[in-house]
Parts: sequence; C-alpha cells; structure tokens
Amino acid sequence: MNSQPKLRILFSRQEIEAAVSRLAAEIRQDYHDKCPLLIGILKGSFMFLADLIRHLDFPLEVDFIGLSSYGKGEQTSGKIKLVKPLGSSVKGREVLVIEDIVDTGLTTAFCLDYLQQRKPASLKLCVLTDKPSRRRVPVTIDYLGFTAPNKFLVGYGLDMNQKFRNLPDICFIEEEEQC
Ligand code: IMP
Repeated sequence: MNSQPKLRILFSRQEIEAAVSRLAAEIRQDYHDKCPLLIGILKGSFMFLADLIRHLDFPLEVDFIGLSSYGKGEQTSGKIKLVKPLGSSVKGREVLVIEDIVDTGLTTAFCLDYLQQRKPASLKLCVLTDKPSRRRVPVTIDYLGFTAPNKFLVGYGLDMNQKFRNLPDICFIEEEEQC
C-alpha cells in the first residue's frame, strides 16, 4: 500500500530543542572536565546526537555503533545484531551512550553489556524518548528527555521502514478510523 499515513505531532521541534538543551546542561555539569566518548546508536540517534553536541562546549569525542533489532514494520525481532562495530576503544574512557528511544530495552541492554565488557572507566546512558510500558529488560536511564505513551513514533531520526527520519518533530501514526 502506498498511501501516506496520517501523522500527529507528539513532541514538537520546540519541545525537542528545549529537552536537548536541558540534557546538555546536565551532561555539561557531569562531564565538562572528563573528555567523554559519546557513542550514538545508529541509525536513530544521529539527529539527537548532532543537536546535543552543538550545545556541549568542552572537549569530547564521538563514535557510533550500529545495532539492529527490527525487521520490517513496528515489531522488534528480539534478536540484536551488531551491524557496525565501534571505531574507537572504550577501555578506560568515560563513555556516554546516546540513544533515540528505549522501548523493550533489549537494544540498549545489549549495547551497555557489550560496552561494559570492554572496560570503560564509566558508562552512562542518555535517551531522548522512553516508552516504559513495553519494557522487557530493566534499563537505567541517566539522562532522559521525554516519556512517551505506547505508540509507534517517527521523526527526528526515528523511522518506520527507513522512512520519516527527516521529520523535525516526533510524531505518531494515527490509527485509521473503522467505519
Ligand atoms: P528496543 O530494543 O525495543 O528498546 O528498541 C530500541 C530500538 O528500536 C530503537 O533504537 C529504535 O531504533 C527502535 N524503536 C523502538 N521504538 C520505536 C518507535 O516507536 N519508533 C521507531 N523506532 C523505534
């Protein structure tokens, strides 16, 4: 089917900007003298990470890790695959993982476990959007932007079948009304 789904804004670009700025202030306080390594989980976190680091005025490094759990559509497969390894060593580093959204928690838990095994000096998690109602494994979020209801979200990096990442707002797809 090629028809465009109806999108409703959940978090507007202005609300996102305010949340990013608040998170950056919290991160600045904790990391300004630590030259942290920020690791974005691809692909969804690229926009959040790019906006976040523009607010951080102290030395830091950036890397990306590619993890995939979703097949087509809105359901997680439950199996996490490493699709792009890190470019840098995390050993002895102050590592801050940047994630777009936590849903079941499987991806983030896999990522934190993977990094912890590589012996960073510290490991924390910054998440823009949390959907706690579908959690399957516990995840401790150190810096959180928004808590969202159990809806499939798109925009600001989040995709459905690789589409809608470019939307500046975070939206949900409105259910078709049954008649
Ligand atoms: P989890 O492993 O179920 O916590 O899901 C984490 C990953 O699934 C995220 O990095 C996203 O790529 C994707 N994801 C989870 N919920 C959504 C959503 O509502 N919209 C788009 N992607 C999502």
